[in-house]
Amino acid sequence: MTRPRFSRKPALVRLLSVAALFSIILIAIQSSFFTGSWTPVNLDIPILSHFQSNLQQCVANRGLGLTAHIIDHCNVILKFPQGTNSTWYNEQFKIFEPLEYKYDVCEAILLWEQYRNMTTVLTREYLDSRPDGWFDYAAKRIAQLGADKCYNQTLCEEYLNLTLPAKPPFHPRQFRRCAVVGNSGDLLKTQFGEEIDSHDAVIRDNEAPVNEKYAKHVGLKRDFRLVVRGAAGNMIKILNGSDNEVLIIKSVIHRDFNAMIKKIRNPVYLFQGIVLRRGAKGTGMKSIELALSMCDIVDIYGFTVDPGYTEWTRYFSTPRKGHNPLQGRAYYQLLECLGVIRIHSPMRAKRKKDWSDVPSREMINNAHRAALHLKKKQAGQEGGLGQFVNCKVWGKSGPYGTGPVSGSTDMTDTRKDSNYNRWEIMPFESLRKEARKHYMQMEDVSLYKMDGNKLDDLVCVKHPLKSEA
Ligand SMILES: *[C@@H]1O[C@H](CO)[C@@H](O)[C@H](O)[C@H]1NC(C)=O
Ligand SMILES: *[C@@H]1O[C@H](CO)[C@@H](O)[C@H](O)[C@H]1NC(C)=O
Ligand SMILES: *[C@@H]1O[C@H](CO)[C@@H](O)[C@H](O)[C@H]1NC(C)=O
Ligand SMILES: *[C@@H]1O[C@H](CO)[C@@H](O)[C@H](O)[C@H]1NC(C)=O
Ligand SMILES: *[C@@H]1O[C@H](CO)[C@@H](O)[C@H](O)[C@H]1NC(C)=O
Repeated sequence: MTRPRFSRKPALVRLLSVAALFSIILIAIQSSFFTGSWTPVNLDIPILSHFQSNLQQCVANRGLGLTAHIIDHCNVILKFPQGTNSTWYNEQFKIFEPLEYKYDVCEAILLWEQYRNMTTVLTREYLDSRPDGWFDYAAKRIAQLGADKCYNQTLCEEYLNLTLPAKPPFHPRQFRRCAVVGNSGDLLKTQFGEEIDSHDAVIRDNEAPVNEKYAKHVGLKRDFRLVVRGAAGNMIKILNGSDNEVLIIKSVIHRDFNAMIKKIRNPVYLFQGIVLRRGAKGTGMKSIELALSMCDIVDIYGFTVDPGYTEWTRYFSTPRKGHNPLQGRAYYQLLECLGVIRIHSPMRAKRKKDWSDVPSREMINNAHRAALHLKKKQAGQEGGLGQFVNCKVWGKSGPYGTGPVSGSTDMTDTRKDSNYNRWEIMPFESLRKEARKHYMQMEDVSLYKMDGNKLDDLVCVKHPLKSEA
């Protein structure tokens, strides 16, 4: 009779896996020999190197001429092709923009993945929990205060109470797909309107108009709008036709501003992660931070990211002087290939919607774990890598959904028909399933950044679902 036979292919696979296992054991023995302790095999660097080569491929496929050059498992240089016309002249440094940019991918993964778990709206619980939150930080968010600190907290509360909810009004994983719409004139070259409106939430910027005239290009759906002080003068005009668009102010607040807020029905909050006393640079990035703190997938439209343009334009007004176009473009491409955003633009509009070269969630999670592990090891801090690893300050607050809502009593009339309270006191059960799951995994803790763009130093505030007996 015939003996059972193994086909050649499985035999080869088996042989290879034995070889692979053998080399892993060798590496393990070597590394334990050098560290003097029996540590598990360290796969951080192979995992990150694999992530890097995926990134390189992604940039090659999607970068419209950009290429990624790997330096090591963390560092990479993004290069524009030879002959790229660098037309933006930096008056300060007397140079044209360079054609290459170096990035630390490990730091970038850590930073941008962190936003997915973050609260980016200023709340009362944050000010109460942060050391000198009221005395120091609150004062920095108020213009025309006449003092650099809140020596009189009542006075500071008068300024801030209008925009200060007790608890986070929005939650990580609240939406599946969000569209972040910039102001680029490029938007007029495409008809992304319907596609933008198909998202679960749409985030817009400053005074960008939303109306029938531009509907086929930018859509009509309005959910969130990030504004700076300059745009506030136009607030009533901006909000015309939308009672519910949430305004999030990414600058300081003052009396005139508050007087206006009192007249409008729309919810108004302050963005928490702004870098104080720096220009409006990177305002598009703030929209992406806000989006990531609420959405699984972030699609961006109307950011001038394609090569070949010479100045920044706006879809609704005459061109404005641009800055750092090449630097910005390289960074947005990096973010796309890190799985943070998806770029939509005229030069990509006709392409098939194929995201297979963008890293999967599993791949990002692995790279994130490896980057975190490596970083902690280099800092000599072995041990727990849980979701609270960066919590420097802990605070405690009342149960979910309790505490004063933003606004003042004399606004009751203005807001009686608006959806203001929907955000602040939305019942837990009404949250999206993924958001509820995350809340449980985070053990009822909200994370806030201590300072703008830095990685470490989070303020972590626990507000249990039900009051603890
Ligand atoms: C580079 O840009 C400048 C300014 O827009 C233009 O005058 C010049 O012809 C461009 N050069 C090339 C090679 O495209
Ligand atoms: C603090 O500010 C409030 C509100 O402006 C004012 O009524 C009160 O007198 C101030 N307190 C002190 C000690 O200045
Ligand atoms: C601000 O709101 C808090 C919480 O509702 C309240 O305790 C405080 O009295 C308010 N302050 C002012 C000045 O209205
Ligand atoms: C609001 O929009 C309507 C119709 O689009 C227009 O007639 C009106 O002037 C606008 N109001 C303001 C304050 O812009
Ligand atoms: C974010 O939250 C998830 C739980 O939803 C957790 O597994 C993950 O470790 C957290 N990531 C970071 C960077 O805090």
